[in-house]
Amino acid sequence: MSIFTWFDERLELKKFKARFLVKTFPTHPTFLLGELALYSFVTLVVTGVFLGLLYEPSTRMVSLFGSMVPSAYASVVKIDVLPLGMIIRRIHHWSAMLMIAAVLAHLMRIYFTSAYRKPREINWLVGLGLLGMSLLAAFTGYLLPFSQFSVTATSIAFYVAKSVPWVGDWISRLLFAGEFPSEGTVSRFFFMHVMLIPAALAGLISLHMLVLVKQKHTEPRSNKNRKEAQGGRRLIGIPVWPEQSVISLSFYLFFLSLVSLMATYIPLNPIETYGPPSPGTPVMRPDWYFLPVYGFLKLIPGDLSFSVLGGKITPETMGGVIFPGFLSLAAALIPFLDQWKEPQHYIVNPLHRPFMTSLGAGAGVFLCMTAAAGYIDLLHVTPAKMTIYVILAPLVAWGITYTLLERYRRKRGIHVKT
Ligand code: HEM
Repeated sequence: MSIFTWFDERLELKKFKARFLVKTFPTHPTFLLGELALYSFVTLVVTGVFLGLLYEPSTRMVSLFGSMVPSAYASVVKIDVLPLGMIIRRIHHWSAMLMIAAVLAHLMRIYFTSAYRKPREINWLVGLGLLGMSLLAAFTGYLLPFSQFSVTATSIAFYVAKSVPWVGDWISRLLFAGEFPSEGTVSRFFFMHVMLIPAALAGLISLHMLVLVKQKHTEPRSNKNRKEAQGGRRLIGIPVWPEQSVISLSFYLFFLSLVSLMATYIPLNPIETYGPPSPGTPVMRPDWYFLPVYGFLKLIPGDLSFSVLGGKITPETMGGVIFPGFLSLAAALIPFLDQWKEPQHYIVNPLHRPFMTSLGAGAGVFLCMTAAAGYIDLLHVTPAKMTIYVILAPLVAWGITYTLLERYRRKRGIHVKT
């Protein structure tokens, strides 16, 4: 009896194969961006288990090379000198960065091809939750090495949390376990980073996949005629087993090679150079994915604050709470503003929908400009001038993209309701 038959008699594997492994997967490479995010998450969990076994989430002072430093910091320095320690730490770091890049690229694919339309609004919202959780995972990971860099970077978020009107004190106590940096902050962040957030990510990814299996993928409009000729099967593509699985495995191996190459040649913020927390404040900027918020904070005049219903709105509230809150709300509303009565199963060519594509282009330029504002000290531009650029550049990008696409659409006689 083969091993497959042995398992099949107990678990009815053939039924599972007939039901799920024949599911069709689209062949267009942009449909692999979601998978890329998934692979990064798996790699983060595996490398994170290794790091978690060696990391000490405490600020207890211990001796390291003759000086007294917090044990969280000392444990990360020790990981770096272990055989394979540094490379695994770097793979963890670069996988986190690739995950956020992949999630954003996946989001752009969904937005620009209007794959969020009815009935996929739920997966759009679950996806936004995944983006938020991925950013939270990166943010909580920042503090763990407990170097001067980590503490300075996290203190910005502490003042943002504190600035939330009415409930700021409560939120900052909940997240940071009191004032920052305090005895309890590291262990609280460690718990969120290794338990709460990965569990939420795993749960949301499962929900995302369940909804996807139920609703099936969108597909290119060009499939319509082919499908009708084939008797109207819902999706044209390749089956999960074996074709898609082989492509996915090859793609994962490619991802692992890329991230290992990055880990070999690109160093992290060297915690040994920054050293443990000390009274001095180093000049630092957050990683690229937090730059728009950081840049926006830099543009708001430091003395601009006012009260609303007894709650104080400070520059930190505007840059760190209202700005990302507004972006999240705008993103969440997209499928409900671009509403359709009938379910839409074919993706739309971005060149055929001038309004939404140019809106996306304008939003992209706006985020890049706010990120550039994070470098205002190096750009030799005053905050007032930079604010004008941040407002004007997206409008110009929107106007140019819209005009060009409208001209293209008219010339080709394309009529798409968008
Ligand atoms: C950890 C983050 C994420 C993972 C692991 C993930 C994974 C996936 C995978 C594997 C697919 C199927 C392949 C594909 O269509 O690309 C998919 C589809 C989809 N995802 Fe995500 N995703 C994530 C985040 C997001 C985000 C941020 C959004 C949007 C806000 C989103 C919205 C969607 C939608 C609407 C679909 C269906 C697309 C279609 O049918 O064409 N996802 N996701």
